[in-house]
Order: sequence, then structure tokens, then C-alpha cells
Amino acid sequence: MCGIIGYIGKRQANPILLDGLRRLEYRGYDSAGMALQHDGGLTVLKRAGRIDNLRKLVAETNPQGHAGISHTRWATHGAPTDVNSHPHLDRSGKLALVHNGVIENYQPLRDWLISEGHVFVSETDTEVLSHLAGYYYDLSTEKDASKRLAAAVQQAVRRIKGTYGIAAIHTDAPDVIVGARLGSPLVVGLGQGEHFLASDVSAIVAYTKDVVYLNDYDVVTISSDSYDVQSQEGGSASVTVSRVDFTQEDAEKGDFPHFMLKEIYEQPQSIRNALRGRLSRDEATAVLGGLQLEPRELRDISRIILSGCGTAYHAGMVGEYLLETIARVPTEVEIASEFRYRNAPTEKNTVQFVISQSGETIDTLASLREAKRKGMRVLGIVNNVASTIARETDGGIYIHAGPEIGVAATKSFTSQVTVLTLLSLLFGRIRHLSSTDGLEMIDELEAIPDKIATILQQADHIKTIANKYANAEGMLFMGRQINYPVAMEGALKMKEISYIYASGHPSAELKHGVIALVKPDLPSVFLAPHDAVFEKNISNIEEVKARKGPVIAVATEGHPHIERVADEVIYIPRCPSILSPLLTVIPLQLLAYYVAVARGCDVDKPRNLAKSVTVE
Ligand code: AGP
Repeated sequence: MCGIIGYIGKRQANPILLDGLRRLEYRGYDSAGMALQHDGGLTVLKRAGRIDNLRKLVAETNPQGHAGISHTRWATHGAPTDVNSHPHLDRSGKLALVHNGVIENYQPLRDWLISEGHVFVSETDTEVLSHLAGYYYDLSTEKDASKRLAAAVQQAVRRIKGTYGIAAIHTDAPDVIVGARLGSPLVVGLGQGEHFLASDVSAIVAYTKDVVYLNDYDVVTISSDSYDVQSQEGGSASVTVSRVDFTQEDAEKGDFPHFMLKEIYEQPQSIRNALRGRLSRDEATAVLGGLQLEPRELRDISRIILSGCGTAYHAGMVGEYLLETIARVPTEVEIASEFRYRNAPTEKNTVQFVISQSGETIDTLASLREAKRKGMRVLGIVNNVASTIARETDGGIYIHAGPEIGVAATKSFTSQVTVLTLLSLLFGRIRHLSSTDGLEMIDELEAIPDKIATILQQADHIKTIANKYANAEGMLFMGRQINYPVAMEGALKMKEISYIYASGHPSAELKHGVIALVKPDLPSVFLAPHDAVFEKNISNIEEVKARKGPVIAVATEGHPHIERVADEVIYIPRCPSILSPLLTVIPLQLLAYYVAVARGCDVDKPRNLAKSVTVE
């Protein structure tokens, strides 16, 4: 997944493009580049590596121009080299284009263009698109260069199989930028005497909060004082101007060294935001109007499928326990990329919830579309407002976690679990849950943010533990019942930012093979809150200790005897077992964070990863 930003207006473009790329770097950071309109020509600057490499080049050359496009890359086709960096040019060298997405049929198109005499300099699929747009531009007889560019882009993308979010400029049309999208997000920023194009609003929220989210197949032409959106069929597309609901500061690190740490510490507030306006004490239930379902329709739902990837999948795993325990609704959780091909048998009255922080994950989008193809109602549990997934669902629940910039998901996980808890309360109260039980759950949910704040006060203790085990060659994460998914999530956090091999397992699975890995320099992290399976967890811990494996335990305060068996203990406040994932995950987030810092890893931009996976 990559990041795009374009600017046209009264100001010099290059500082705005660089600033936007910095805010988009979490989307991909293999290489970066920009193309500026200036004096009838194009200035193209691009560099492999982090955006700072491009920044240095821009500082050396100080390129002028009031219109430009730029790109930060997560490589799909072609290694991250200068030549493969975007923007890419057409045959004439007059058209420049940046692209987020994958062109699945780029090879036959490339072969055809070569047969037409085109010469390619990169290994990328995107260069095929820039040549294709240039091909149609050169064929056109349209006199108005702006319309000619828009038409050429429209014709080029019609031949694409795959996904794209693009921005293009041409020296014949110095006063416009053309954008188009299919499957990759693109938003228009509306300024005074200036307009923007970006992959997401965090790149432009410093300049404008008024935006238009483009739909699939839209083609937009922006100038300094206007924008025009054409639909696939041609003719003006309907547009809605939205107001961004967060500030530039929300999308900044503030005093934190990393976005990830800031987002871990935001969790008391982000959970309050997820709960706000959604708890009814009068009816002892949750209020989730975004589902757009009446109580009778909710009552008729006989099965729920939860679908997502990575952390969102782990939240769904917790959701399965929540919905089946609290609401007694048969629930299954699916890895989105598997569901889309599995052709699962489905029954009537089955609803699929797709869970996604970015709302752009292509595997989750595909799961959504497969469920709809099978006639299911599909609802979203999404963070990114107006994202592709949010807009294709039949309704849903925004988690209101605010921008999550760190590649490792943290606050989005706890907010997704919070929303799934609200959903379970709503379904439970429609079925069998008493108002007393409902009120008790509301009380316990409202107490969670302060309990998380208490855990965060143990950061130094957790940092000490992290430093002690930072050189481990591997880590096992163990949990039972509703904390098994949290063990999976803790392992994912650890592996994706510290690069230590880590795996999550149900504790009882130890003796079915996992314990073969236990040895003195391979720590096991146990989630052992004081619940119905606490003693079973203690037994598992003792099995590890008997083989000299170090044990880090997350346990409930007030039960110190776990210190007899565990080498390290991180205590969490008491809470009902069914809500414990909201607490047990916090120490694991901090543990992964501090281990990664101790190992000198790039916490916010781990190698090989991007924040949202919009390519298959
Ligand atoms: C989790 O830390 C990773 N960033 C990754 O697994 C992520 O959860 C997954 O790609 C799903 O992203 P989404 O929630 O934006 O759909």
C-alpha cells in the first residue's frame, strides 16, 4: 500500500507535498518521489529509502512549482530503487503519474505497448499505466488539454484489471491535476484558492477539513479554484462534502517518541469514545443506530460471522467468545482472505460483520463482497470514516479510535473489542440478558478506561522486563478461553515490531507439541487472570518452569501466589473475565513496544510492513 498527495494552488507545492508524504509514510516507506509543473516542464525528483532521502534532494534543488504530485511507496512490483520509485513518466516525458494499487494485467499491457514502440525503464506495473495514459493522450483530438488528460486517464484505467488510486499531471495542462480510484482510497481536499488529492485525510488535515471522498471509478480534475468529478459512465458524479472529525494534532506524535506509544496511551480515551452515546441505562442495553436494524430484525439473526485480518481477526476471535457467552448467538470468526475463497455453506438470517481499522484492507473488502454475493447482510466495525469498506457495508459501527498511525494496531484492537462487547450486550438484552445483568455490564464497561490507565502506570516495570528478554530468539504467548485471542495478538505485536519469532497458543496446547520449544532462553508469556481456568494456567506455567523456561505472567492484582511460579508478573486490576481482554492486552502492547525499542527497531514503520494492506 502506498501514499499519494497532490497539490495545486497559490503556494509553492514542494513543502506541502513533503509534509503530506511525512504523514503518509506509515502507508509505505520503501521510496518516495515528486513531480512538479514548472516553466512548461516537469521537475521529477525521486529516491529509494525513507522520505528523508527525498527531503535532502529537495533541499539541495529547491524545485519550484505550484502544482505537483508525490508518492511514498510500499513495493509490490520491482525492488525499492530510484528508478522504480514513483512518479513514472509516459513515452513523451510530459505526463507524470503516481499510483497506489496493483495492476494485475500489467504484463500483457506492457508487451503490447512495447510492440507499439514504447520503452520502459522500470520494473514496475505503474510505469505501464503512465505509458497507457500517455498513449491515449497522444491519440486524442480534444483541444482542451485538461479535458484531454482526464479522458486519457479514463481510457487508460478502463483497461486495468486490479486496483488503483492515481494522480497525474501533463505539461500541456499545467493548471490541473487528474485523479482516479478503484479499490484504493483517494480524497479531494477543498481549500481557498487551492485543492489537494490524497490517499487519506491525515496528509491534508493541516490545510483543510473539507473533503470529498471519491468513489470507485470516479475521475476527478482539480485546479486551484475548482474540482470536477466524472463518473465511470461520463458526466458529473454526485459528490458529498464531508468534514474531517479529527485535528492535525491527533495525527501527530506530540511528546511521544513513537506513534505506537502515543496510541497505547490513548486507549482510556479511545475506549470512552467508542462507548460515548452508546450505553442506555434506562433500557440496560447498547444503542447502535448505525446497524440500521430494528429489534425484530436483530432478533431474527440466527448466526453471526466475524471477518478480518491480523489484529482485526484477533478482535473477531474475542468477539466470538463475547457474542456466544453474552448473547448466546452462534458465531464464527473467519480470516477474511480465507473466507473469500472458501465457499462456506451459509444459512438464512446469517449476518457478517467485517472488522477493519483502515477500512481499506483488500482481503476484508473481498470477504465483504463474497458475503454480499451470498445474500448476507454485511455490517462494518471500522475506524476510518467513509473508507471503502464502511461505504460498501449495509450499516455498521464506527469505533471512533481516531487516526491510528503506528503500523502495529493497538487502540483499534481495544476499540474493536469494546464495540463487539456493545454488540453482545445489545443482542443479549434482545434475547435473555436481564436488565440487572445489562446494567452490571454497563458499569463494568465504564470502569475499563480507568483500569487501563492503572496498567499504563506500570510502564517502567514492563520496560524492565522487556529489556531483560529483548535478545530472546523467540517467545511463546499462552492464554485460555477469551484470552487465547489475546495471546495471538500479543505474539503478532511482538513479531511485527521486534522481529522476534513469536507465536500464540491456547495454554493447553503446550503439551501437544509447543512445549518442545521451551528452553532457558525462550520466554513464555502467560495471560493468567484470576478466572475459572486460572489453576489450569498455573499448571501450564509449572510445566514450562519444570523445563527451565522463563515465564512472564499477566495476572490479577490481589492474587500474589502466582509469584511462586512465574519469573515476572505484571498485575492488572480485577474485572469480569468476559471483559479481561481489554486489560490483558495492554501489558503485551507495552512489552512488544519496549522490546522493539531495546532492539533498535523502527517501531512505527517496521520492515516489510504497511499500515493497511490494499494489495493481495
Ligand atoms: C496489526 O498490528 C497489523 N497492522 C495488521 O495485522 C492489521 O491488523 C491488518 O492488516 C488489518 O488491518 P485493518 O484493520 O486496517 O483491516
